[in-house]
Amino acid sequence: MKALVLSGGAGTRLRPITHTRAKQLVPVANKPVLFYGLEAIAGAGIKQVGIVVGDTAAEIQGAVGDGSRWGLEVTYLRQEAPLGLAHAVLIARDFLGEEDFVMYLGDNLLQQDLGDFVGRFQARRSRATAPRLGEEGLAVPSAQILLAHVEDPQRFGVAELDVAGRVLRLVEKPTVPPSDLALVGVYLFDSRIHEAVASIKPSGRGELEITDAIQWLIDAGHVVLSEILAGWWIDTGKLTPLLEANRLLLEAIERRIDGEVDTECQLDGRVIIEAGARLVRSHVRGPAIVGAGSEIVDSFIGPFSAIGPGCVVHHSEIEHSVLVGSARVIDAGRIEDSLLGYGVEVTRSARRPRATRLMVGDHCLVDLS
Ligand code: TTP
Repeated sequence: MKALVLSGGAGTRLRPITHTRAKQLVPVANKPVLFYGLEAIAGAGIKQVGIVVGDTAAEIQGAVGDGSRWGLEVTYLRQEAPLGLAHAVLIARDFLGEEDFVMYLGDNLLQQDLGDFVGRFQARRSRATAPRLGEEGLAVPSAQILLAHVEDPQRFGVAELDVAGRVLRLVEKPTVPPSDLALVGVYLFDSRIHEAVASIKPSGRGELEITDAIQWLIDAGHVVLSEILAGWWIDTGKLTPLLEANRLLLEAIERRIDGEVDTECQLDGRVIIEAGARLVRSHVRGPAIVGAGSEIVDSFIGPFSAIGPGCVVHHSEIEHSVLVGSARVIDAGRIEDSLLGYGVEVTRSARRPRATRLMVGDHCLVDLS
């Protein structure tokens, strides 16, 4: 079993952050989204991982390296343009060979254990070579997909199932959805997917769609099974879900204070203060994390905040927000529901007349409420 992790793409929905940073490397609870996926793959016992990369190849490669940190052997696969999820499979042909593989979207986060999902696929596949008593007639899947009940299926690839959970039909962003079951960003395939991705044509948006490739498998008479996701799943490619993922992951942290905290500070509940961080006359209410080398002075860090490394926060309040790193937030009042990229400055000067003075790049979002 191999893994194919998709870390190319355009990331338009997370601009301006993605102008300068791969969206898979945006931190949630101070760890890049992609690392959670790689940990899950390693935890499922998979060793050989192909990472599909695009324009941000150097950055992804710099962060992940050879994968040995997770016990993985990583191969980088260059996709010249984000031509679709099925296109990523197409360019990975040589790496994948004839092996079964898990395809994992590098900006997705799942609570469910990947090992269990993969293990059930392998068990079902092994019926082909060694059927157990009573299982001789059971279908051997070519693919297995993960589905989640969603409120707005019009925005997703949606599945129609039979009573046994076998996929009958898949439709991409349907106006009249056949169910409320959306495809989650983790798929299991055998080598028959290669013929599928080579046979389909680009969709209306010019991409080779993985839903079309799976539909091709179904039309060719192959068995595609599905499972309903256990626990939460988040596609972190937009601001609100990214903050939600940060909240869910911070919910699970354990208190650990390794930094310097003066006697006038108050730390409530599950708080992580990394070594090298310094807190002065401040209040941190967990779950929250303050990264290495950050300096928090006369400030309040509220629940579901992840302050990245090297940030400076003075006389300000921050809640339900992600500071990627090296941000300076000085006399800023209260900041909520925000994502501040690397090196961002939010300050208040005494200059008159009082005014909002901005220097913001392309596609920034400033909400003056
Ligand atoms: P998406 O979020 O569907 O696409 P995108 O990254 O282009 O983002 P946006 O819609 O905001 O412009 O991609 C899901 C994951 O798959 C993500 O990690 C990027 C990756 N991907 C590729 O590696 N190659 C591709 O051709 C596409 C479309 C996505």
